[in-house]
Amino acid sequence: MSQLRSIKGTHDILPEHSNKWQDLEKIIHETCKRSGYREIRTPIFEDTRVFSRGVGEDSDIVSKEMYSWEDRDGTSLTLRPELTASVVRSYIQHNLGILSPIQRMYYMGPLFRRERPQKGRQRQFNQFGIEAFGSENPELDAEVISIAWNILEGYDLGEISTLQLNSIGSTECRNNYKEALKDFLRPNLNQLSDTSKNRFETNPLRILDTKSENERRLLEKAPLISDYYTDEDRAHFDSLQQFLSVMNISFIINPKLVRGLDYYSRTVFEFTSSALGSQDALLGGGRYDRLVEMLGGKPTPAIGFAAGIERFLIARESLGETIRPLNNNAYFVCLGEAGIPDVLSLSNTLRKAKINVVSDPLRRSLKSQMREANKSGSRFAIILGTNEIENKTLVIKDLKKGEQKIILQSDLTKFFKDLTS
Ligand code: HAM
Repeated sequence: MSQLRSIKGTHDILPEHSNKWQDLEKIIHETCKRSGYREIRTPIFEDTRVFSRGVGEDSDIVSKEMYSWEDRDGTSLTLRPELTASVVRSYIQHNLGILSPIQRMYYMGPLFRRERPQKGRQRQFNQFGIEAFGSENPELDAEVISIAWNILEGYDLGEISTLQLNSIGSTECRNNYKEALKDFLRPNLNQLSDTSKNRFETNPLRILDTKSENERRLLEKAPLISDYYTDEDRAHFDSLQQFLSVMNISFIINPKLVRGLDYYSRTVFEFTSSALGSQDALLGGGRYDRLVEMLGGKPTPAIGFAAGIERFLIARESLGETIRPLNNNAYFVCLGEAGIPDVLSLSNTLRKAKINVVSDPLRRSLKSQMREANKSGSRFAIILGTNEIENKTLVIKDLKKGEQKIILQSDLTKFFKDLTS
């Protein structure tokens, strides 16, 4: 039988790498909680309509990338390709708006998009993100962006990432702008790619997102959305920029940033990094003041972002980070079968006292066990041989300094406790 392998575009996170995930997850949990955000966990699959209505039928995600299937009762189900629509569904279902006028939530977990796999782009990938409901004021936009900024800084990516910011205005502004953009593009329609020709009909704003050099050149003279802002749009965007500046958050304004999901209005932003290659977005988000209503809730303004965890790790690796060894307090080396019961019970006592300890179940030679102890990243080796069993003692070797000493077995927990006190 041929060897079974993980599906294209999916990856195992191996034990030697999971430490790095946990380091980042810790920063995310701490930073979000510090600003009053609490974790929400929604199901991995949802009614397909959550995404088709929420993200938009014409978006790439819904039209090409969803893993959907018909369930036995005929319902169309979909593995979540993003989390904002799921969180909004949950917000409406549980009436979270009634509990408090402002709801702040964060999340972490796997998502599924059938994209062409490449560096930083998988079919199963992981995101963390936040969503804040209940205010259309720009101070909430500033708060959300500052959390993204703080997580990037906390994970040492501040220096190698750039905040790109734009406002795509209110619905009124976008409708006027779409017409102006179409008028501008119409004489050159035959020069556009098939994708852009389609977008011309369905969502002309997305043409600004094009990767084609030809189209980019053509768009250089295109009208700008900022010329179509209403007074309120302009005041909102100006205040946001002022708030970011007082928080020392630097940004560049990218008037062509539109983002690929249909639910956005006004503020949109992305943190990009040159450390990533062609898939350069570390994190993206924006305001979605109409989405709660579109999914059947009361009109509720909201804003959030999501970030690719794998991309955070790739960017961090570019800083020359090496794999951090497992940081055990001790490795138990046992010489001879007679010591096994003592090793098991002493290890158990240590673990109850919150001391990390691993032991060797292979009954190997002293030399092999000591090699393993060093490899495991343990600070100490605890050695139990025939003499030690007889005298109820242990040899403790400091693997960093090379020194060793003998202690009573009954003093083992105290030995480790004294180190930390
Ligand atoms: P998004 O831009 O589709 O936004 O995804 C956010 C981030 O997820 C991207 O910047 C990227 O880092 C990561 N990402 C996306 N697709 C992949 C992939 N195939 N493989 C690896 N990483 C990927 C959203 O998902 C919105 N829900 C963000 C949001 C939240 N807007 C408001 N609230």
